[in-house]
Amino acid sequence: MSDFPQKTADRPESVTGPDPLDEAAINAAVEHALDAIAAAATLDELKAARLAHTGEKSPLSLANREIGRLPKADKAAAGKLMGVSRGRVNKALAARTEVLEAEDAARILVEETVDVTAAPRRRRAGARHPLSTLQDRVSDIFVGMGWEIAEGPELESEWFNFDALNFKPDHPAREMQDTFFVEPPEAHLVLRTHTSPVQVRSLLERELPVYVLCPGKVFRTDELDATHTPVFHQFEGLAIDKGLSMADLKGTLERFARQMFGDGAGIRLRPNYFPFTEPSAELDIWHPGAKGGPRWIEWGGCGMVNPNVLRAAGVDPDVYSGFAFGMGIERTLMFRNEVVDMRDMIEGDVRFSEHFGMEI
Ligand code: DAH
Repeated sequence: MSDFPQKTADRPESVTGPDPLDEAAINAAVEHALDAIAAAATLDELKAARLAHTGEKSPLSLANREIGRLPKADKAAAGKLMGVSRGRVNKALAARTEVLEAEDAARILVEETVDVTAAPRRRRAGARHPLSTLQDRVSDIFVGMGWEIAEGPELESEWFNFDALNFKPDHPAREMQDTFFVEPPEAHLVLRTHTSPVQVRSLLERELPVYVLCPGKVFRTDELDATHTPVFHQFEGLAIDKGLSMADLKGTLERFARQMFGDGAGIRLRPNYFPFTEPSAELDIWHPGAKGGPRWIEWGGCGMVNPNVLRAAGVDPDVYSGFAFGMGIERTLMFRNEVVDMRDMIEGDVRFSEHFGMEI
């Protein structure tokens, strides 16, 4: 403020503002204020200019305060001059405020623009693996028939995996399945080669009658290729009640097949051998939607539970009877959803799972 008009010699010492009758000085103060207001580039700068030029200690406020001390005759002229002068400054302030506020609003609109048409940055949420979804679907179908879901350990005792299922110690059938034996040998532990041991566990744990579906992971010493994997999944069905027959087995599997493959689906049983069922059968499914046209496809094994298995589980075969079946989930996914290479199911590439969506 050094360029500000200095006080005149005849005024009291205490006065620091210009003389309210000195028109040139007052006009200079107004011009000074107007310059500062015009130069304010932001609302903050304008606030500082307002304080400097209209605040209590501003030259114009101080000059205005001097009016009270003037002789009566001079008051009107000084009051008019000060009123007009301060009015000019306030008007300029109001105008500049309006301009800067408008600029501010425009800037905020640009800076905070949300482009609603912009492509979102998606976080890939992944997708459920089709094997899990298929396993749930199978479970749901049986739960819908009033069955329960049963589980057993993947590290299984040889007794549950083989002996209780009527595989004799030297029976060649033991060799049917390429087993991972787990050390030490005297612990007689294996990675279960099928879900069938859950049959015996369920009978030991549950009250009769028993209707259970047992889905889960199984292990065999197979090399990984398009149709084999050393770790895969099966589901096992077991129904033990009074008076169950092969007709119940057929009816259950038929109903299951239709829910999985549509109303046009059917089943066919071919004689086979399993130690834990007698009679035993190979189960074929008539797949109406098969790629390349409807046809029979080998699906799994089934049969009437061997009385020796019932005895091993403490069930009296003279009172109770029942049926069992077992299928591979990978295999089912292959011919149900036209997956040609099993390795696609185990690589863990989310693009494979996404292809199936959330529901298959
Ligand atoms: N456990 C057999 C396998 O893994 C499949 C099987 C066949 C299960 C017949 C059964 C059955 O319950 O009755 O090859």
